[in-house]
Amino acid sequence: MKLDILLGLQWGDEGKGKVVDVLSPHYDVIARFQGGPNAGHTLEFNGIKHVLHIIPSGIFHPGKINIIGNGVVIDPIVFKKEIDSLEQLAIKATENLLISNKVHLILPTHKWIDAMQEEQKGKQKVGSTLKGIGPTYTDKVARIGFRICDIHSADFSERFENICKIHTDLLKKNSYQPQEDIAAVFTEWLNALQTLLRFTLIDSEYELNRYLKEDKKVLAEGAQGTLLDIDFGSYPFVTSSNTVAAGACTGLGVAPNQTGKVIGIVKAYCTRVGNGPFPTELLDETGEQLRKQGHEFGTTTGRPRRCGWLDLVALKYAIMINGVTEIVLTKADVMDNFELIKICTAYQIDERTTHRFPSDINKEIIPVFKEFAGWKQNLSEVNDYEKLPQNFKDYVAFIEEETGVPIRIISTGPDRSETIIRTT
Ligand code: GDP
Ligand code: IMO
Ligand code: MG
Repeated sequence: MKLDILLGLQWGDEGKGKVVDVLSPHYDVIARFQGGPNAGHTLEFNGIKHVLHIIPSGIFHPGKINIIGNGVVIDPIVFKKEIDSLEQLAIKATENLLISNKVHLILPTHKWIDAMQEEQKGKQKVGSTLKGIGPTYTDKVARIGFRICDIHSADFSERFENICKIHTDLLKKNSYQPQEDIAAVFTEWLNALQTLLRFTLIDSEYELNRYLKEDKKVLAEGAQGTLLDIDFGSYPFVTSSNTVAAGACTGLGVAPNQTGKVIGIVKAYCTRVGNGPFPTELLDETGEQLRKQGHEFGTTTGRPRRCGWLDLVALKYAIMINGVTEIVLTKADVMDNFELIKICTAYQIDERTTHRFPSDINKEIIPVFKEFAGWKQNLSEVNDYEKLPQNFKDYVAFIEEETGVPIRIISTGPDRSETIIRTT
């Protein structure tokens, strides 16, 4: 069996959590490969909404194995909160959640450094979720980071104290004073670490390769989106990990020739939380309507999401980088009442038309739009593709034609049941 990869093709929040939940019955194993508590993946079923930050979105399906791979960074405090809320629902995650020994840990000081560095950036502020993501990946690459398996090493205390000293020296040098009670936060962190250590720690690369050899079906669940990728996103307004398909290989220890389908999640319009360029952003009434109808407020931070039209230049770029084999289109229902819907097909930069996503996306970009008549019908009431309104089908056909990738699933609402799987 090959590893299937599911990821976001825009700036995150495309609906990955919902789609992983819908697809989980078809898989034996669901594995997160990058990111950490900056992610917020929402799933809804039986009238209840669940938000996951670190735990894979297959956790609600009994009998499925969920793995947190080596590429992920974990804050034990956030992890404990997530486990506690699952336990309240009588879900015993200890039974079907396995964690890589090589996961890097987010320390309280990483969060403070994140906040301090955001302040220092001034105009270049990324709009980070302030969960300590950047500083934790920085330490990983600087080779001073702290993995779960390091806790069991003989020099644990020495290394822990050393890294804390490096961090506190940096904070002091910059006169940064955390708002919280430092001792209390460290105590909470160490207590939460005990919860994390109750879980089975594994060399996930060995287990995942074994599962694939045993013909088990494995789905890699991405966090964030392609345009937030550290290499290919709208740098520097990005996150600190590889969110693209290649990240699933390094974040799980599965070789590129062992990968299968690449399922790209695309919202029918675009959203972005935080700062940075957004060529199709709508700063008008239509943008406000998308935000209101789509409940576009950050799952992790509650911040209003910036909204705009679907951007085919960026989408084609994301499809190329990831080798997307099929698309899942989400949230088109948000535009059910729209008279007019637009899709950006090209950019005008310095009076020249381009179909490429530029390296310097900070330049002034004028989007070129194609217009579509709205379908003016409630999509969530339809459960058969053939019965969908023709204007919507034309919209879908245009995206497929332009991208060359089939749209296999259409999500028409937040609930598990509001999903159309195309057979034609
Ligand atoms: P993720 O980070 O990609 O998992 O996405 P989020 O959970 O952060 O944000 C997506 C939001 O849209 C969540 O509130 C979902 O419940 C909701 N959602 C997902 N799919 C659909 C859809 O097809 N229609 C509507 N209206 N909402 C959706
Ligand atoms: P999911 O998995 C949307 C954004 C932040 C900020 C930038 C860097 O739910 O799609 P970071 O905390 O990583 O340093 O923030 O990336 N960001 C997300 N935006 N969805 C996410 O995750 C995001 N994770 C980070 O808003 O602009
Ligand atoms: Mg999200």
